[in-house]
Amino acid sequence: MSRLRYIKGSEEVVAASLRVIHKAAERYFENNNPLRIEVGMGKGRFITKTAEENPDINFIGVERYESVMLRALQKQDALEKEGKSPENLLFLCEDALNLGEYFPEKSLDMIYLNFSDPWPKDRHAHRRLVSEAFLKRFHPLLKDGACIEFKTDNVGLFDYALTQYEAAGYSLKAMTRDLHGDPELGAGNIMTEYEEKFSLKGNKICKLILKKEDN
Ligand SMILES: C[S@@+](CC[C@H](N)C(=O)[O-])C[C@H]1O[C@@H](n2cnc3c(N)ncnc32)[C@H](O)[C@@H]1O
Repeated sequence: MSRLRYIKGSEEVVAASLRVIHKAAERYFENNNPLRIEVGMGKGRFITKTAEENPDINFIGVERYESVMLRALQKQDALEKEGKSPENLLFLCEDALNLGEYFPEKSLDMIYLNFSDPWPKDRHAHRRLVSEAFLKRFHPLLKDGACIEFKTDNVGLFDYALTQYEAAGYSLKAMTRDLHGDPELGAGNIMTEYEEKFSLKGNKICKLILKKEDN
């Protein structure tokens, strides 16, 4: 990941935003529509566009750094001025380690992991969001049969993910090592900021879909 630039005042903006979840609650939307989250959403392009295209599904974008979330909030402000800010989208500024404090068991219909940080050193493997340990943390939060969708251009991280999911209680529903050239998995694909950057450099985008299996 490129070096994070700290933005002065971002904590205050995030703390005051009505679009941000500040306290764990039983529900975050005024309807019972399905709930999907993106963990490590970055500046939020993917989840914003996905929410716009799916008004009958609720979305929460999770990002641990205020300086990054600030960008997503600024985009929502700009959309709101045009009357286009999606009402089915909220944000949570939190580390993925703590998601169990915010989401009850079997409450999530989907988790998106897009261009998760690769943490290439072995001693940091436990920080990878596709590690067995993280996948096990996500497992109870997902509804039975719900899926995790993971995209990356990092072949090493993708291969690593393929060694992790089974022991964490998932099956492989689908995968491709060339998403943009795959007529089935690539259909309707919504690009993230990183996806655009790396595919413009000529990198192939890998995607896998994991399905939660019963314990
Ligand atoms: C490489 S960026 C990708 C951003 C975006 N998903 C995209 O594809 O453009 C990874 C993002 O995940 C966030 N992140 C990494 N580990 C996280 C964690 N444990 N909890 C929450 N966010 C995390 C980082 O702060 C960063 O913004």
